[in-house]
Amino acid sequence: MLPIILTSAAVIGGIALALGLILALADKFLADYGVVTLTINGDKELSVKGGNSLLYTLFQQKYFIPSACGGKGTCAYCKLVVTEGAGPYLPTEKIVLTDEEMAKNVRLSCQVKVRGAMRVEIPAEYFEIGEYEAVLEKAELVTPAIKELTFRLADPPAIKFKAGQYVQIQAPAPGTGEAVYRAYSMASLPSLRETVSFNVRLEENGVASTYLFGLKDGDPVKFSGPYGEFLYSRSGRNAVCLATGVGLAPFRSLIPDILESDPDVEVFLFFGARVKGDLYGGADIEEWAKNPKFHYIPILSGEEGDWDGERGRMDVVFFAKFFESHAQDEYYLCGAPVVVNSLTAELIKRGVPEGRIHFDKFG
Ligand SMILES: Cc1cc2nc3c(=O)[nH]c(=O)nc-3n(C[C@H](O)[C@H](O)[C@H](O)COP(=O)(O)OP(=O)(O)OC[C@H]3O[C@@H](n4cnc5c(N)ncnc54)[C@H](O)[C@@H]3O)c2cc1C
Ligand code: FES
Repeated sequence: MLPIILTSAAVIGGIALALGLILALADKFLADYGVVTLTINGDKELSVKGGNSLLYTLFQQKYFIPSACGGKGTCAYCKLVVTEGAGPYLPTEKIVLTDEEMAKNVRLSCQVKVRGAMRVEIPAEYFEIGEYEAVLEKAELVTPAIKELTFRLADPPAIKFKAGQYVQIQAPAPGTGEAVYRAYSMASLPSLRETVSFNVRLEENGVASTYLFGLKDGDPVKFSGPYGEFLYSRSGRNAVCLATGVGLAPFRSLIPDILESDPDVEVFLFFGARVKGDLYGGADIEEWAKNPKFHYIPILSGEEGDWDGERGRMDVVFFAKFFESHAQDEYYLCGAPVVVNSLTAELIKRGVPEGRIHFDKFG
């Protein structure tokens, strides 16, 4: 009996999947929605080609919306209020949006399709986001898997951003050459407006990281930005920065910014890596360490013979040995989502209010 039920379920599931695929393909290739009206913030009316995602449609019209996952429906950065024309909520939206957000017509603009007249609200700060072209000026391997890439801005010739923000770099998908977008944090000072540096970790078969690793001096790139709210809170509390791996990137901008703008605040950087060769940013860290308000605690999780510093998983070491004296501090976390999530959960469990925990998840 059980095999028959399982076979029937598999057949029904297969048919549903096939139908879904056929509908999606038909929508992509056969449906023609013509030109539709997209109204922005109640007053600006645009005539746009129907059929694409709201995110892509806005991008085509030079309205840049944060979309760190590149439209996969996972980052939830592309939320916009759509008051008309978005249709029912999709399963992909229901996974990431709260009931409260849905009651307020918040939508994932990467999932919603523009199929007819639509009215959307775009926050004023997004109008400051622009498109940039830059050329690679310097590439340096700073660990076996991380490259530091410095670009000189070409058009426009300078960028204005806040420490901790990121841009979305355009990369060609292998085979099709179709543009894909990935988020990379500024790893240089906002005051250096004519150049910008990124720390990029090479992901196996990763589209954008492989493309960026392959760039040669003088090669052009395009990106939009700046985006993001991973900013210094100016709360006056001491700042505890918890970074793992390439998650150090935004701190290379944030830490000097905090030290310079708030001389009374103590800054603690806990940097988790596997082995000594994965600890990068040494020259910057030495520079920050000239300031007695800065404290650096590297923690190695792998086998490393010649090391008299902290050993173990960064979260385990931090909570076992250091948390007590930082219970009242402000937290800044950056690294892989799994690490950021577990650090956040433990901080909350230990009584740190959510409002004192700031993070960027690299995934
Ligand atoms: C706000 C923010 C800031 C960030 N800043 C940085 C930064 O400063 N530096 C940095 O290095 N990264 C940063 N990231 C991460 C970055 O945006 C990219 O996600 C990362 O570089 C991987 O992109 P990719 O195109 O190389 O890999 P992708 O092509 O997106 O692939 C990612 C991984 O998934 C696997 N994969 C892809 N497709 C499939 C599939 N169909 N089935 C199974 N596996 C698959 C790949 O093999 C790869 O390992 C940031 C992310 C965010 C959200
Ligand atoms: S772009 Fe990431 S969820 Fe929409």
